[in-house]
Amino acid sequence: MTAIEDIRAAILADDLPAVAGLAVPESYRGVVVRKDEVGMFEDQPTRDKDPRRSLHVDEVATPALGPGEALVAVMASAINYNTVWTAIFEPLPTFGFLERYARVSPAAKQHDQPFHVVGSDLSGVVLRTGAGVNRWKAGDEVVAHCLSVELEDPAGHNDTMLDPQQRIWGFETNFGGLAEIALVKANQLMPKAAHLTWEEAAVPGLVNSTAYRQLVSGNGAAMKQGDTVLIWGASGGLGSYATQLALRGGATPVCVVSSPEKAQLVRRMGAELIIDRNAEDYRFWADASTQDPKEWKRFGQRIRELTGGDDPDIVFEHPGRETFGASVYVARRGGTVVTCASTSGYLHEYDNRYLWMQLKRIIGSHFANYSEAWAANRLIKKGFIHPTLSKTYSLEHTGQAAYDVHRNLHQGKVGVRCLAPRDGLGVRDLLLRERLQNEIDRFRGE
Ligand SMILES: NC(=O)c1ccc[n+]([C@@H]2O[C@H](COP(=O)([O-])OP(=O)(O)OC[C@H]3O[C@@H](n4cnc5c(N)ncnc54)[C@H](OP(=O)(O)O)[C@@H]3O)[C@@H](O)[C@H]2O)c1
Repeated sequence: MTAIEDIRAAILADDLPAVAGLAVPESYRGVVVRKDEVGMFEDQPTRDKDPRRSLHVDEVATPALGPGEALVAVMASAINYNTVWTAIFEPLPTFGFLERYARVSPAAKQHDQPFHVVGSDLSGVVLRTGAGVNRWKAGDEVVAHCLSVELEDPAGHNDTMLDPQQRIWGFETNFGGLAEIALVKANQLMPKAAHLTWEEAAVPGLVNSTAYRQLVSGNGAAMKQGDTVLIWGASGGLGSYATQLALRGGATPVCVVSSPEKAQLVRRMGAELIIDRNAEDYRFWADASTQDPKEWKRFGQRIRELTGGDDPDIVFEHPGRETFGASVYVARRGGTVVTCASTSGYLHEYDNRYLWMQLKRIIGSHFANYSEAWAANRLIKKGFIHPTLSKTYSLEHTGQAAYDVHRNLHQGKVGVRCLAPRDGLGVRDLLLRERLQNEIDRFRGE
């Protein structure tokens, strides 16, 4: 058996103490984009850039393990939109991020390679820890959040997202989670929820943590009981967690989706106020450069119909250019638009009179600090918030998985099996699982 097969066999046999004694493989299989292919989609419209052509499964050398780091045997990972951006080389190829990171320290130099192993989520088992790591040891079952920080600068010590050397692991660093082995900082590790399978445990990390900071944390919108929260893309990656966080936190989500099937999914999560943006045919832009405020008003009117007259205290924004003008308009007087992305375009336009005259706020939010990611993971562990896994692919089919997300063909989250040979493995707490099975399976097969 190869070294990687030994590791997989020990994990599948539940012989976790044995993992510490097994050799670390010299190389492993990972999903990469290649530097010599960054021009492959030149002149193609964004929609036609196909991740199935640019994502490859290559054998790569195992990186050196530095102080404060860990190598993890990855059982499962997930597709995030950042993998789509990486795979279509938009808005920029990620190799520039890796070159910049390599300049930070001698240890970071190894991140600058002609390949980029992508992926910002994982569930798996710690293989080795570097010097100075005391909290985690080989054999621990973990998930990893995707905040990589150096923390040598004072600016990051109140909120690690403010560290000048803040990066998203697997997007702005190499050796990410869509692989058999990943390199992480030990302060990315968190305990895996015992009632979930490897693939279920792998999917919430990035989006759940992001939605937690954006919606719940005081660094974001600081949602409170009774708030009305407008959630764009409510059955998507971020939205499916924002919807659950709103419901669990005593708020009322107004969920925007684009099909009856997606409406059904958010209904299953417990949401009652739902807008199908396709069926109601909102056209916030009259043409490529002119918005139509009448459409903002029609949208706002619809929200009031559903809520009995309330405007949103919080608008959970990420579609960006296409929706931002409407989002600013419909937020209540004194309300908050909190944004973490610009899927449809990052040059936003809105009517500032509605912002200043009605004392609204726009807050920028990005991923989450360790403490926020930990709090978000705790909700998963307790079974308060559930994975929204709809489908899993093998590592070899990661390109197809990313294609589905790029084309908005997916629901919730799409998982990828790395060392896990099939779905359904890795559950430790059968009792809790049995109690929550329906909630865990809500998005399955959709
Ligand atoms: N800053 C961060 O830390 C962070 C973290 C996670 C994600 N992101 C970013 O957030 C964005 C969404 O990520 P995700 O994982 O939620 O993706 P996702 O799974 O594709 O879900 C996004 C949903 O937004 C809706 N949507 C897409 N385009 C839209 C448009 N033009 N107008 C209205 N709704 C639209 C779609 O839902 P319907 O079709 O049903 O309406 C879609 O399902 C991406 O750009 C991603 O890069 C940022």
